[in-house]
Amino acid sequence: MLSVSALSCHSPKGEVVIPADKAVEAKVEQVLKGMTLEEKAGQLVQLSIMVLQDETNEALDPAKLDKIIGQYKVGSILNVMNDHAHSREHTAQMVKDIQAKSMETIGIPCIYGLDMIHGASYLTDGSFYPQEINLAATFNRTYARMMGHAMAYETRAAQVPWVFSPVMDLGRDPRWPRIWESFGEDPYLQAEMAREETLALQGKDPNHIGLENVAVSIKHFMGYGVPVSGKDRTPAIIAPNDLREKFFAPFLECFRAGALTIMVNSASVNGIPTHANSVLLTGWVKEELGWDGMVVTDWADIDNLYTRDHVAADKREAVKMGINAGIDMIMDPYDPECCNVIVDLAKSGEIPMSRIDDAVRRVLRLKVRLGLFENPTWEKEYPMFGSEAFASESFDAACESEVLLKNEDGILPFKGTEKILVTGPNANSLRTLNGGWSYTWQGAADDYAPQFNTILEALQQRFPGKVSYEPGVLYDQTPMMWQNEDASGIAKAVAAAYKADVIVACVGENTYCETPGNMDDLNLSANQKQLVKALAATGKPIVLILNEGRPRLIGDIEPLAKAVVDIMLPSNYGGDALATLLSGERNFSGKLPFTYSKHINALHTYDYKVSEHRETMEGSYNYDAIMDVQWPFGHGLSYTTFAYDNLKVDKAEFGPEDVLKVSVDVTNTGNVSGKEAVLVYSSDLVASLIPDVKRLRAFDKVKLMPGEKHVVTFEIPASRLAFVGADGKWRLEEGDFRISCGGLGVMVRCNKTKVWNTPNI
Ligand code: BGC
Repeated sequence: MLSVSALSCHSPKGEVVIPADKAVEAKVEQVLKGMTLEEKAGQLVQLSIMVLQDETNEALDPAKLDKIIGQYKVGSILNVMNDHAHSREHTAQMVKDIQAKSMETIGIPCIYGLDMIHGASYLTDGSFYPQEINLAATFNRTYARMMGHAMAYETRAAQVPWVFSPVMDLGRDPRWPRIWESFGEDPYLQAEMAREETLALQGKDPNHIGLENVAVSIKHFMGYGVPVSGKDRTPAIIAPNDLREKFFAPFLECFRAGALTIMVNSASVNGIPTHANSVLLTGWVKEELGWDGMVVTDWADIDNLYTRDHVAADKREAVKMGINAGIDMIMDPYDPECCNVIVDLAKSGEIPMSRIDDAVRRVLRLKVRLGLFENPTWEKEYPMFGSEAFASESFDAACESEVLLKNEDGILPFKGTEKILVTGPNANSLRTLNGGWSYTWQGAADDYAPQFNTILEALQQRFPGKVSYEPGVLYDQTPMMWQNEDASGIAKAVAAAYKADVIVACVGENTYCETPGNMDDLNLSANQKQLVKALAATGKPIVLILNEGRPRLIGDIEPLAKAVVDIMLPSNYGGDALATLLSGERNFSGKLPFTYSKHINALHTYDYKVSEHRETMEGSYNYDAIMDVQWPFGHGLSYTTFAYDNLKVDKAEFGPEDVLKVSVDVTNTGNVSGKEAVLVYSSDLVASLIPDVKRLRAFDKVKLMPGEKHVVTFEIPASRLAFVGADGKWRLEEGDFRISCGGLGVMVRCNKTKVWNTPNI
């Protein structure tokens, strides 16, 4: 599989996900015809902006521009790495200078790419939305669209036409440090939110991207999120059927929405480094889907083929392996020498010229689709940049994303008369509200955005004169030292607790991103647990606020809290949102987009195999295999209550081409208005491979006034109930299915088996 050499003709074997546009193709051919081999090689290489900057990191160095763009003819630049953000004007000017040089010396525009993950990273003055994990918790597609639109707009405003987003690694292992970057553990939720974000980022016509849209790079293709070790960038082992059914399906949805580029999983799946996996890169994507977009590597990952993975002996072999497997652009951040390696490999025929031309066409096609030949830079006003309108969307999204997990004796909302002690290392930190990819890679909001409120500041504004503060435990402020905590303040916090009526304990994690977030113990850190235990000994009620990128285990301290709220990473307005929710001015409506595990040796996803665990002892073969989690996927409370009745499916029996019409009555049975995320699951009772216990198949969010009833309806194509069988094909099998929603269930029967390559899912 690793040594596939001549994969030049990627003739589609099935559907064609992006229709070809004649004018686009003609322009690509016209440019390609006039290119030298050196120019072609340059188009296949991407370097970091660092290699063009002078020693101040502020300005471009003309000599470096001459070398990298003039001499090596490098076709793409990315990011600012040195934990530093610039203003929009500064970034825009930098890109304009690079473009001027590219047009003058190569005659082909450069493509600049940025890691916009939840807003304008690397810009000092743009907007941020809650991280993707929070957007998933809203179960409201509107917010994925809003964020996509704002991100595209603000990226374009900085003269950048390409983002490395959305992230769509399934967050199915809570130990992995990047689960907050994506939309949680479920493939359908991931697919729905990522598709909406993709459409908002790119617009509806992938052949003509406008000046308020950008190209996406859906990532990381694929299987990156479940490393066996739990550590970032380490090998995953994924059953072949799961790879297609769960990991590929969300990407498929985005390809069908026109996604123009993909970034490759830095690690390996089933022993094959993804950067050398021709079956996935060329077979599944370029051939099966007739996809004519561009594949970019992740950071220095061609080098990893020989330095880390030992599947290549040296750089030359690694480049050959990657490009022949289907890589079109090599992110080789520090060194343009890669251009010469490509030229040499093309001259020797080790990379066929047809493969080189195919890769170059894909790069050029992207640039043409983005309109960069006509407008390498653009003069356009972007009055909405960093606007109040985006800020208000971000606040609304934060409010809908924070999840009320526990609320004993109705301790929340606060009455407004309580004396509140605010404590914990996350109480007065803006960077922890944002997480990584915020202003800088490791997250540096406190330095860049002092105008926003921390949790403490928001509560002080909301409950004037009622709030006292003692951190108890503090994080080391050195970004890479996020585990180190100073616990010398616990005694002071305890003393303050005696004077308060209620304790708001804000615990969780400091910011991290990628490998610096690796860790050896999923438990919440010992110091923070110690703080909560000491506070509980005062007998004062505790409201535990979890501000964390992944569900840290809290089994021993959860019983000590009256209420628990998981705010995850809600960004700059997350403190204000929390204060608004705790005061009862707004109601909670977020639900967990992942399973919150309780025990370190029992890390679950909600869609486990029926033979893996049980909900109860009944029928259990293995008496240890009882599903015992802290909170299940989809759990989330409200200040009101909702009753579900009358679940109906329009047909008791269905065929593979049918659409199931599902309806359910949802009534607000409490005293305040609220929003409810309505989740519909299916269970395949008998299948030729051991079935998942249940799978999310549809969701919607409704707003209901007290006493109001809404009939919520869904249309579910029967093909969505299919699974991937042992032969790698999608199968819907004759037999019984249970459709469930809100604790209700209805049995239906599929009357015919059908097998597909890529169905409508
Ligand atoms: C990350 C990617 C990111 C790239 C460029 C890598 O280390 O894995 O997600 O897009 O850097 O910054």
